[in-house]
Amino acid sequence: MNSNSFSDIPIIAELCRITDNMYRMGWDERNGGNISILIDEDDIMPYVREKTERTIELSFDASPLSGRLLLVTATGHYFRNVSLTPENSLGVLRFLPDGRHAEIIWGFEGDGRPTSELSSHVMTHIVRLKQDGDHRVVMHAHPTNLVAMTFVHNLSEKDFTRTLWKRHTECIMVFPDGIGVLPWMLFGSDTIGLATAEKMKQFRLVVWAYHGIFGTGNSLDEAFGLLECAEKAADIYMKTASFTVINEMTDEQLKSIAAHLGVKPHQGWL
Ligand code: 13P
Ligand code: ZN
Repeated sequence: MNSNSFSDIPIIAELCRITDNMYRMGWDERNGGNISILIDEDDIMPYVREKTERTIELSFDASPLSGRLLLVTATGHYFRNVSLTPENSLGVLRFLPDGRHAEIIWGFEGDGRPTSELSSHVMTHIVRLKQDGDHRVVMHAHPTNLVAMTFVHNLSEKDFTRTLWKRHTECIMVFPDGIGVLPWMLFGSDTIGLATAEKMKQFRLVVWAYHGIFGTGNSLDEAFGLLECAEKAADIYMKTASFTVINEMTDEQLKSIAAHLGVKPHQGWL
């Protein structure tokens, strides 16, 4: 298979379309951001010609995902280039039964390795799958306005969520469960992975103060849409934060949207 045809693998093409769009949105400067998606054997095995013999060690327990395949971005790769070099910038892992190793089934050519945020991705997949058997995607990015908001807005999850719900009418429909917020922590660590996964028991979106956001979903489109809506609301907030706000959506109006759409807002937050 020559390098051009890697993008003919449907799941790879879909992921490349998303990484291109994330870059265009301004969410992923340099190597900022990473994505992982749980895939099926049929998504990749028919395209694997030579099995790589590489196995990587994991610093955390991935045993609940034993045998599962994860398509994930490589560490250090520029998002704007992923679609040009998918065989280097992406790879597929299979988690081994000991929970401490994964074999590389495809990709990561040129001695690449999975994202430095692998622990946050894997721990989040484990938690989200318990909440929803159809869960598939974890997406991390650095959307400008959401990050900017963490400098000027208090970091209470309730307040942060309510501000976003009130700055964009459709947010309560897209993330009625709200947004989890973590204070600054060292990125690329198992500690932030554990903290993120803990938040993911309640939320599908978790903000990392002064850094970025993690979003999840049953598909790439769904996770992208979640980030897109939260970032749009944060954009509106940042554009209005320095003015005196004279009109605002009321709690009653938000409740009426939720009732109209049959969604349940986070209990006690309205
Ligand atoms: P990676 O290049 O290791 O994926 O890291 C990017 C990033 O956004 C770290 O938080
Ligand atoms: Zn990051």
